[in-house]
Amino acid sequence: METTGTERATATDTGAAARKKVFIKTYGCQMNVYDSQRMGDALAASGYVATEEIGEADLVLLNTCHIREKAAEKVYSEIGRIRQIKKERASAGREMMIGVAGCVAQAEGQEIMSRAPAVDLVVGPQSYHRLPDVVRRARGGEKVVETDYAIEDKFEHLPELDRAQVRSRGVTAFLTIQEGCDKFCTFCVVPYTRGSEVSRPVAQIVAEAERLAAAGVREVTLLGQNVNAWHGEGPDGSEWGLGRLLFRLAEIPGIERLRYTTSHPRDMDDELIAAHRDLPALMPYLHLPVQAGSDRVLKAMNRRHTAVDYLKLIERIRGARPDIAMSGDFIVGFPGEAEADFQDTLELVRTVRYAQAFSFKYSRRPGTPGAEMDNQVPEAEKDDRLQRLQAVLAEQQREFAVSLVGREIDLLIEKPGRERGQKVGRSPWLQPVIVDEKAGEIGEIVKVRITRAGHYSLFASAT
Ligand code: 5AD
Ligand code: SF4
Repeated sequence: METTGTERATATDTGAAARKKVFIKTYGCQMNVYDSQRMGDALAASGYVATEEIGEADLVLLNTCHIREKAAEKVYSEIGRIRQIKKERASAGREMMIGVAGCVAQAEGQEIMSRAPAVDLVVGPQSYHRLPDVVRRARGGEKVVETDYAIEDKFEHLPELDRAQVRSRGVTAFLTIQEGCDKFCTFCVVPYTRGSEVSRPVAQIVAEAERLAAAGVREVTLLGQNVNAWHGEGPDGSEWGLGRLLFRLAEIPGIERLRYTTSHPRDMDDELIAAHRDLPALMPYLHLPVQAGSDRVLKAMNRRHTAVDYLKLIERIRGARPDIAMSGDFIVGFPGEAEADFQDTLELVRTVRYAQAFSFKYSRRPGTPGAEMDNQVPEAEKDDRLQRLQAVLAEQQREFAVSLVGREIDLLIEKPGRERGQKVGRSPWLQPVIVDEKAGEIGEIVKVRITRAGHYSLFASAT
């Protein structure tokens, strides 16, 4: 579950000059993008409007990610930069509070305050509904650290959005339905930073999707660290799984497309696979990380499945939906990974043929079992493997894109293109597609023919 680089939250600016301004910078995955939006909403309810100009901000929030590398170090150096702006504002008699949110906030907690005295508030991912109160206390001069896992459901405490707020987000939207993880893969911090698995109830999810649809959203991506482990009580009192939920959401007028991410292979049940066969609104794209192709490494990672289990699963999914685009995550250089293990990963990749993939060098995360293992792989070895793996994955991605050239596809038009006269949409397989702006209005799904595969996008013309 990856986004490239960082994104700004898009809380609505209602324009009142006297209102306080918040600048939110988002790192990491789509769940953080969604959280940043909801933080913006929570703050909007207490009078803050979003700004894209950090120098204008009365409050700067860094929504951080802790999944890999020296994430915390990056946050500290970013705070160092922002501290300068804070000083400049202070000398002009204007306040600027700095807040750290997200997974680094959860992992480091009080430590952040000690190392970075410029920080005024620290708030973990399960406490965003408390933000207005946290900000109020911080403005009163208190250094607030709020990183408890909330016992109450944070989703119930977030404000409902008005139409204008939702509309400002465009025709595609994220909707978090599940958070946390109980799987404890030995490389991963998520079970520690996001806590154990929690599913939102059906009624809450349906209500949020209906609001999104009413405001013009056509495509909803359901989010969760373990989204296919989602299970919730349905209106009939029985327990629903993700497959059933997808069928229900597809009934909402206006919702034309559904996606979900990120999934674990062990939670792909028959009902969900059947949804890929029987539910046209469910897009033919599946992000199903395997991490490695060697059974020895998979075991050490505590993935609790073998390479063959994964390959068989993909065969079943492709049996249900032959044109499905497979996407995955890979880690090279997990402790103990030998060249032969890495060859197993390459072999698995060649068998699956991925349309899209994210690959990473193993990064020791403090507090995880992997970090304690004594057979760490040298950095140079990881670099070399990552390069070789990425070469194969890039070739497969290219092959997949090229295979669409000449085909007529359904395109959801999303926004104006970077260049004049263009619009950008999404293919069913999640690729950005560039078309002439006359191909359709934003929010429409139109038939187009793919004419060319570029580096990052496809090009198409109206049919
Ligand atoms: N080192 C490298 N990659 C990691 N990921 C998670 N933890 C680590 C780590 N310690 C990757 C996994 C996961 C993705 C979100 O990030 O591939 O699926
Ligand atoms: Fe991390 Fe594994 Fe849970 Fe995914 S399934 S969030 S990789 S522990």
